[in-house]
Amino acid sequence: MKNDILINRQIKYIAILVVIIGFTISIKNSNMHLPGNFKDYEPEQPISFSHQLHAGEMEISCLYCHFGAEDSRHAGIPPANVCMNCHKYVSNTLNEIKLAENDQSKQQVSVEIQKIYSAFESAKLGKENQKNIEWIKVHNLPEYVYFSHKPHANAGIACTKCHGNVESMNRVKQKNDLSMGWCLDCHREDHSSLNNTKQRKLQLQDCATCHY
Ligand code: HEC
Ligand code: HEC
Ligand code: HEC
Ligand code: HEC
Ligand code: HEC
Repeated sequence: MKNDILINRQIKYIAILVVIIGFTISIKNSNMHLPGNFKDYEPEQPISFSHQLHAGEMEISCLYCHFGAEDSRHAGIPPANVCMNCHKYVSNTLNEIKLAENDQSKQQVSVEIQKIYSAFESAKLGKENQKNIEWIKVHNLPEYVYFSHKPHANAGIACTKCHGNVESMNRVKQKNDLSMGWCLDCHREDHSSLNNTKQRKLQLQDCATCHY
């Protein structure tokens, strides 16, 4: 009799465990996001700009385009005239130039690069609504969170720590979940570049540091 009750109980526990494990697996396997979690967000952009090509293969420095990242809140997205520094001269890819060698009819401006010219022209003409390329923002924090790139750059934290290997991405993808736990985990760590007094660490975990 006593044994029966014990076995009964064990079966109940096992049943509950199976349900929990099953639920966890189903969340992991589906594309379902936990509320507010946009990890792996990878929107299609209006121009198929590739970091792998520009920052990776061509080794253009991140700061050449994101010149705000070291001393302001926002890293910023470059306006079309930064692209024009090169694309004034580069209107085809090497592949397209090769193809055109045999077939003159193929010698035309790349479809994707033409979009830069259109944005640049409309910016010059000052046309309303058309001034900039409408890039879709990948990383988004809620409005009630305060974040700035500057203190992180000052502390010597590399872009890759938070954004992953952007230079190997054809299309930018959000690598971390940008949750409060993610921020705090790092704020609790030791950062050798700083004097990690106990007081400073507590300050970095203080609600008012990240919430107005
Ligand atoms: C400590 C983490 C962290 C580091 C280090 C970091 N970023 Fe960010 N970055 C973020 C977060 C968080 C956002 C979203 C900010 C928002 O929504 O206000 C962001 C947003 C951006 C954006 C979108 C535009 C903007 O400014 O909001 C760009 C571009 C960017 N980062 C580039 C960089 C580059 C380049 C570096 C290295 C020089 C870098 N980031 C270093 C966390 C980081
Ligand atoms: C330092 C020079 C330089 C800058 C700055 C630059 N590019 Fe490029 N880009 C190139 C070169 C060179 C190529 C051709 C690479 C090849 O031969 O395939 C290219 C290729 C491209 C392509 C075509 C890729 C393909 O395979 O279809 C696009 C789209 C593009 N760039 C967009 C941009 C945008 C948008 C900006 C500004 C945010 C920009 N580029 C800034 C040098 C530059
Ligand atoms: C030639 C210019 C150029 C260079 C160099 C460049 N970027 Fe970008 N970056 C862009 C443009 C344009 C966008 C917006 C379109 C997109 O998301 O691909 C962007 C978007 C981003 C974003 C996403 C911002 C958002 O919307 O949240 C991050 C993060 C980023 N870049 C990081 C980097 C890092 C890190 C490097 C250096 C390894 C780098 N970029 C080099 C032009 C550049
Ligand atoms: C990879 C580590 C890391 C991550 C991730 C990170 N931080 Fe930080 N944060 C730091 C370090 C280190 C400092 C600088 C400490 C210093 O200068 O003493 C800092 C400083 C700050 C400061 C300035 C505090 C002050 O009093 O000057 C703010 C605000 C901040 N972080 C917000 C955030 C937010 C919001 C997030 C998440 C979206 C975040 N951080 C994610 C490491 C990180
Ligand atoms: C290092 C930065 C940082 C610190 C310090 C911090 N938070 Fe947050 N907090 C965040 C970020 C980032 C989010 C947004 C999370 C998201 O969008 O998933 C957030 C979200 C929240 C939310 C909304 C949660 C929800 O599910 O909507 C509350 C409430 C909150 N924080 C309270 C606090 C309190 C209370 C403290 C102090 C004990 C604190 N936070 C300290 C970064 C921070």
